Amino acid sequence: MTAAWSFEFLLNRPGVAWMGQNTTHLEPPPEVLDALLRSTRAHEFQLYAPALGFEELRELIVEDLGLPGMAAWITDGAVGGLHHICTALAGDITRLITTDPGWPWPGRFAGLENVPVSTVEVYGAGHGCRMTAGQLANTIEAGSLIYLIDPLNPLGSRYERDELAAIAELARETGSLIVHDCTYRHFADGHTLAAELYPEGTLTTYSFSKWLGLAGLRLGAVVAAPSLLSRLTAVPSNPLGANIQAQRAAIAGLKVKGPWLDRLRATNRHNQEIVCRAVDDSGLGSVVVRPSHGNFLAVDIGAGSRTSEEICRALLDQDIFIRPGTYQSPRFGERFVKISTSVPTEWAERFAAAWSGLPAPTGTGR
Ligand SMILES: Cc1ncc(COP(=O)(O)O)c(C=O)c1O
Repeated sequence: MTAAWSFEFLLNRPGVAWMGQNTTHLEPPPEVLDALLRSTRAHEFQLYAPALGFEELRELIVEDLGLPGMAAWITDGAVGGLHHICTALAGDITRLITTDPGWPWPGRFAGLENVPVSTVEVYGAGHGCRMTAGQLANTIEAGSLIYLIDPLNPLGSRYERDELAAIAELARETGSLIVHDCTYRHFADGHTLAAELYPEGTLTTYSFSKWLGLAGLRLGAVVAAPSLLSRLTAVPSNPLGANIQAQRAAIAGLKVKGPWLDRLRATNRHNQEIVCRAVDDSGLGSVVVRPSHGNFLAVDIGAGSRTSEEICRALLDQDIFIRPGTYQSPRFGERFVKISTSVPTEWAERFAAAWSGLPAPTGTGR
């Protein structure tokens, strides 16, 4: 086995089913490709973009979220906004609260600024695969930053409106801020925005990497009430503006989002069914949250069998790239793998065949 988790290694390996980054690999809308080509031919890459992003794009994002009166700042991917939130606000927050499993980077960014980080465990029996208000109440202190990923990468769970309302109430009582990471919102059914419940204290982060498939172009946004957002944009992390071609592509994508999302969501759903069926029939593992509200599924492979990394290596030998839970969960990561599903259905079928061919754990009789 070679350097399995080097993306560069994978890029140089033609034929890989790329199901390990929650990215989208369907043929993009032609309008998005046209916008990229037009921008390139007009040599717009020779320009800096406006510091906070194109006005039209900022308005389209606020409209897409349905948060009138809020303001948007265009960032270098959602992660660029998250980094700036965690570092620019570090002096004003007492603690960052996150989950395990979760997405590790905001906790690490806050750690760089010596902000203490509390991690709430949400995996396994007794947990609903998301942070409860009770868990939060045991952890929160005045002036916390609550990092809420919803839908939750890597499990695919999402918060109900009343759960968010209880979390918002705790945030309000303690003068805490919520970062509502909505990177996967477009794949979810019935998603609620924390900003509707706690508008004065919620920073909503937004990504074009997943639903529109622009991961390599690095474009996202932070949306918040103007006075809250101005705490970040007074000194933005990238005053020279986010990728200008990406912004043109994002504007084009938002204008055709209706038909595009119909196709994307239908494909994602269909592929999830293929993956679920393969797992159910194999006797190897079980899907943790179904239906998943993201473009991925987590599969629990049980304690004591092979580790998640061993399973991922075995699949990569068959040109199927999926991710072990260890990337997103220090505590539970050896017990699950994650499979991205907004991909060509042929890849989901290849995954299903490869998974079915994996040796079952000893003692299952398969
Ligand atoms: C929860 C979460 N937030 C943020 C990001 C980063 O998104 P972007 O590509 O827009 O920087 C990811 C990417 O995987 C993610 O899973």
